[in-house]
Amino acid sequence: MNTPLRWPAEAIWEAVAPDLPGFTVEILPEVDSTNTELMRRARAGQFDPILLVAERQTAGRGRLGRDWQSGAGGQSESSACPSLTFSIGLPLAPRDWSGLSLAVGLSLVESLHPDLRLKWPNDVYFEGRKLAGILIETVGMADAPGARYAVVGVGINLQARRAEGLNTPPAWLHELLPGTQAPDALLQVAAPLIHTLKAFEGSGFAPFQARFNARDALTGLDVVLSDGMTGRAQGVDGVGALQVLSAQGVQKVTSAEVSVRPAPRSVAFKS
Ligand code: BTN
Repeated sequence: MNTPLRWPAEAIWEAVAPDLPGFTVEILPEVDSTNTELMRRARAGQFDPILLVAERQTAGRGRLGRDWQSGAGGQSESSACPSLTFSIGLPLAPRDWSGLSLAVGLSLVESLHPDLRLKWPNDVYFEGRKLAGILIETVGMADAPGARYAVVGVGINLQARRAEGLNTPPAWLHELLPGTQAPDALLQVAAPLIHTLKAFEGSGFAPFQARFNARDALTGLDVVLSDGMTGRAQGVDGVGALQVLSAQGVQKVTSAEVSVRPAPRSVAFKS
């Protein structure tokens, strides 16, 4: 039988609550999806700042309407928590929301390991494989014009998992930090991430641009976008738009609904 996990709820609360009045930490043994749960609560008028962690999700969701599978059962290890899944919910009122998901990805890679990279807009990569994903959703707050309740969901693979059924081959944290359990990883990422969200609210994406580009996995690579455009990735601009040098010049890609992949050699962009 697995030993129950000891979650660092108090340490995270102490690091966050002074800057975020009303903040709570909640750990659930199981839920359909931490994002779905916080979106349900927000639609019912609960807008308090919260970190909601689930030891197991039964209907995890990813970007672009995909599922997020938490990797039940690793290939070589067993544990109650083969991945870390959590969502942060909080009211935010930035002047410009552009680049929020990029700032979140940057916060994760900077908290976790120097060898991690970011694949625009916000996937966390290790050696060309996906280690973590981010799903951000928002709800309007009738009583607070200009603010929205943001739900920032994060899934991090901890243990080895199979690639079947996944769009992108997986990477896992134990490749870089063997033995790291979900509570350890949560302690590493949660408070810095909440501080990043508050910093983004105050100053937008521009202060994160250079650090994002220093970790960008795509810069210099030929890429294909899901809308068919091809070109060479040139990092992001001050609002987080991906800059792609195409035959028509530098194109700025902003749509979160556009996915981007390194180009197979046969369709590589020629300048
Ligand atoms: C993606 O890469 O497509 C985004 C994956 C986001 C997964 C996390 S796990 C915690 C939170 N709850 C969900 O249902 N999704 C996010």
